[in-house]
Amino acid sequence: MGVGPGDPDLLTVAAVRAIAAADLVAYPVAREGGEGMAATIAAPWIGPQQSRLPLVFPMVAATEPRRQAWLAAADQLAAPVAAGHSVVLLCEGDVSLFATASYVLLALQQHHPDCPVHLLPGISAVAAAAAAGAFPLAMQQEGLLIRPTPESPEALEALLALAAREQWLLGLLKLGHRWAWVRPILEARGLLDQALFAQRVGWPDQLLGAAAAVAAEEQPSFSLLLVRQGWPAVLP
Ligand SMILES: C[S@@+](CC[C@H](N)C(=O)[O-])C[C@H]1O[C@@H](n2cnc3c(N)ncnc32)[C@H](O)[C@@H]1O
Repeated sequence: MGVGPGDPDLLTVAAVRAIAAADLVAYPVAREGGEGMAATIAAPWIGPQQSRLPLVFPMVAATEPRRQAWLAAADQLAAPVAAGHSVVLLCEGDVSLFATASYVLLALQQHHPDCPVHLLPGISAVAAAAAAGAFPLAMQQEGLLIRPTPESPEALEALLALAAREQWLLGLLKLGHRWAWVRPILEARGLLDQALFAQRVGWPDQLLGAAAAVAAEEQPSFSLLLVRQGWPAVLP
């Protein structure tokens, strides 16, 4: 189920009810003993009587440790379900958008096809940032492309040119350390005042505002950018 992002008040009623009804609350952590963002967000809704199951998903580039973690998580979730327990897996933002939960879902479908699974959608960080920044995401014939920030300046230039031509709004995730070279590109294209920079949306230390206000230095990984390069012809 999706939780947050950041703010525990952004859980849906369905998510709060499902947590309350769960025997076991599972959540991703980056390492043994880690806290887990999703668990922190949902903490006000988890009761002391509920068991907790941290699932380790290492933040590494190598393929095999990540595959093993998805398969192990599927096993760890399917076993208590088969024993008759109700289990929820928390996921920050929406459960289907660049989400660890999607890999776990595929592993469950492949290796535990009899395990019943219900997905509860959440509020994506892009939607939360747009609302917090009063930033219209897409209108009329515009498109919306949500994707990781390109890996190189050349790839970003090409994406911005394509998005301008196609009237696409861009939601660029995983901005973090790339911001140092992304900012000068936006500046050269005159986009700094129209782009919304959003960091840790919904958390107490949220940073949100025009990209122009954010210095060109590395930023924490939980940052994203909304880029609008034009407006529809018919507006109030
Ligand atoms: C693996 S994706 C998870 C997306 C998530 N499932 C969603 O629906 O928003 C992680 C990226 O989403 C963005 N993100 C997630 N939570 C965020 C937040 N609270 N504030 C800003 N960006 C966030 C960041 O760009 C981060 O690198």
